[in-house]
Order: sequence, then structure tokens, then C-alpha cells
Amino acid sequence: MLLHAPRDIEAAVAAAECVVRTHERLVEILRPGLRLSEIDSHVARTLDDLKCASAFIGYRVRGHPPYPSHACLSVNACIVHGTHTMPQPPLAPGDLLSVDIGVRHRGFIGDAAWTYAIGGREPLAESLMDCGKESLRRGVAAMQPGRPLLDWARTVQTFVEREKGFHLVRGLGGHGYGRSLHAPPFIANSVPSYPGEWPDAGRRFEPGMLLAVEPMIAVGTTEIRSEGDQWPIYTADGSLSVHYEADVLITPDGPRNLTEAMFGLPDVVGN
Ligand code: MF3
Ligand code: CO
Repeated sequence: MLLHAPRDIEAAVAAAECVVRTHERLVEILRPGLRLSEIDSHVARTLDDLKCASAFIGYRVRGHPPYPSHACLSVNACIVHGTHTMPQPPLAPGDLLSVDIGVRHRGFIGDAAWTYAIGGREPLAESLMDCGKESLRRGVAAMQPGRPLLDWARTVQTFVEREKGFHLVRGLGGHGYGRSLHAPPFIANSVPSYPGEWPDAGRRFEPGMLLAVEPMIAVGTTEIRSEGDQWPIYTADGSLSVHYEADVLITPDGPRNLTEAMFGLPDVVGN
């Protein structure tokens, strides 16, 4: 689906703004000692306030129970899809919490994630977070109309792996969205290593495309691990991870990051 009608563009912009507002309100309360259930309730109240519905709760994917939380809350080695029902002690100083918020608002989706250090961070966590944010910045700048989707992956991967020595986890990526949370194309974060690994790699960025792009980066591995039918996805080696996701509208003049204001969020909260 390509977005051209001004009224639809406005709705997509408004939905993305709701996601940013929800993050902004959340960082006010994040601190050591909070439980994931309290964080999820806070997200639920904010969404209500902003006249949004969670795009995640109840979400169904074959092989999993319906998604149980309003937001994805992923701590440390949990990369994405953490839930408030997974075994996880209350937030402790130095934890890295990735919060992914998906909303439905005026018929459109907003879907963006950011990572927060709780109460302070080690130098390694700071480098990993800086790497994540910069990879998103550079990757979004590469989303130029007429260029192949591969340009996103090449830019992000070169920076994260070659320049910084961290790892993009394989098998997960970004996606088109709009009136539904997930739509084609899939947006891989790394260049395919064999033909056919990413069929859409040669497809081109096109004005009107609405894309959620999301580097997921681990300190020690490209491999992921999960348990049975459970939602949370972890780094295979238990190393620290971050997740930064933006909503991008491709315009004739270049990429427009609808969640650009996320870059103004604090890295360290509750200190
Ligand atoms: N941003 C994630 C994604 O696009 C969030 C999905 S959570 C789910 O895949 F609950 F909806 F699965
Ligand atoms: Co997403």
C-alpha cells in the first residue's frame, strides 16, 4: 500500500506522534525497582489517554499464544518481544530495557522502539546504545527513493559490524506497515549471504512507502534463541542487546522519519 492522500499521511503522522508521546511519558517513571507489569500498565493508561489502542496486545502469530502485553518490554539479553508475563525480576540499576510501542490511531499504525539504561550504564552499554542510534540515523538517510532496499541493510551492517564490531541479529527485521501492523516488504538488517535469502532486497524505495525499520544489535552474536511457544527472543549467547525502531515515510525528496523526535529521549533514566 502506498500512502499519497494527505488525509492518510496526516493520520500516519499522528499515529507516529502518539508512539513518541508514549515513550516520552514512560521515561518519566522508569527507575530501578519497577516491575514490567507496572510499566505495561503505564503504557496502557497513556495509550488510553491519547485515544490509541495497542497494536500488539492480542496479536496472533502461528505457534504462539496471543501476545499478552500492551508493549514489548525486553531486558538485557532479551532482544525483542519481551512480555510483562515472562520471568523477570524488577528493573535493576544498569539494566537495558528496550520498549517497543505499537498503536492504532485514526485507522493507522505507529510502531517504534527505543532502549533505555535504568539508573546508569557501563561503558559497553553506552557504546552499544550509541551504535544502535547511529545505525538507525545512517540507515534512514540511505532510504532514498529509487534506491534498492539493500542500501538500508548495507549501510546499517557496515556501520554496526565493520565499524563498531557489534552484531546485527539475523532472521528479524523491519517491515512495511500502514492500516495493518505488518505488510510487505520485509526489511532485513544485513546483506543476504546467499541468493534468495531476502527476495525483496532488489525492490526499490518508492514515494508513499511506509516502513518500520529496526536494527536489533547484540554484543556477541548474530544468533537468536527462544523457548517453545514463548514470545521473548534472546541473544543465543546471553549477551546484551539493544533495539531502535523508527517509522519512515518515503517521499519524493527522501526519507521522512515520522518518529525523529525519539532521538531526543534520554538514554539513561531513573538515576
Ligand atoms: N515492532 C515489532 C514488530 O514489528 C513488534 C511486534 S510485537 C507483536 O514485529 F506483539 F505484535 F508481535
Ligand atoms: Co515493528
